[in-house]
Amino acid sequence: MARKPFIAGNWKMYKTTNEAVELAGSLVKEIGKFVHADIALCPTYTVLNDVYKTIENSVITLGAQNVYWESEGAYTGEISPIMVKDTGAEYVIIGHSERRKYFSETDSTVNKKVKAVLAIGLTPIICIGETLEEREQNKTMDVIKTQLEGGLEGFAALDVLNSVIAYEPIWAIGTGKTATPEQAEEVHAFIRTWLEEKYTSSTSDQIRILYGGSVKPENIRELMQKENIDGALVGGASLKKDSFVSIVKNAVSDTIKT
Ligand code: 13P
Repeated sequence: MARKPFIAGNWKMYKTTNEAVELAGSLVKEIGKFVHADIALCPTYTVLNDVYKTIENSVITLGAQNVYWESEGAYTGEISPIMVKDTGAEYVIIGHSERRKYFSETDSTVNKKVKAVLAIGLTPIICIGETLEEREQNKTMDVIKTQLEGGLEGFAALDVLNSVIAYEPIWAIGTGKTATPEQAEEVHAFIRTWLEEKYTSSTSDQIRILYGGSVKPENIRELMQKENIDGALVGGASLKKDSFVSIVKNAVSDTIKT
């Protein structure tokens, strides 16, 4: 089945308000009417609404990089799903490896966050991926399976249908070392089969699985040629207009004439 390509930019902890609005504005000019892929920008919390106001009349959508699972309360420093939604965001990245590594997130906190986000009608982009050590020890599929089981525990097929999965091998993030299309496809196919076995084939056919880790204008096309790679979660290359625009366009260059 044809899944619409999805390219999301994870801006991580970069860009002040002016910088973020400037980048978002220049993206609106270049790809604000681009209908061949879904496009999302995921800036830091403080600029979410400013970026939203910049992109709201374009096809570009907004996502946050994290969320807390409670809807309100005495949780100093945290941000709830309703607050994220209130900014205009539609997506939330959950369980990014940097959150797992530096902020002690686990499959269990990922599960709570995904549940809270789905309950309010936001779409989680659930990140999973193995370390280099795990890959070298041939544990990649075990790690992926554990992360899927823990992150999605208790969810029905419909919940999963309303989610996006991002496979981000940790050794490929910010290193310039992309997984080969074959390495990525092997894991994406594993994820889709796992979803089919656990839920239904219509669930696994429809869910989008993004690849993340040193995606660039030069390697996105090859990655997108793989059957189970439906888009990308882009870090560093999403921080510059030219590289992000090229990634979006190159991602669909085999299927459409732009
Ligand atoms: P890079 O594209 O900078 O490797 O980052 C990938 C990533 O972590 C996206 O979430």
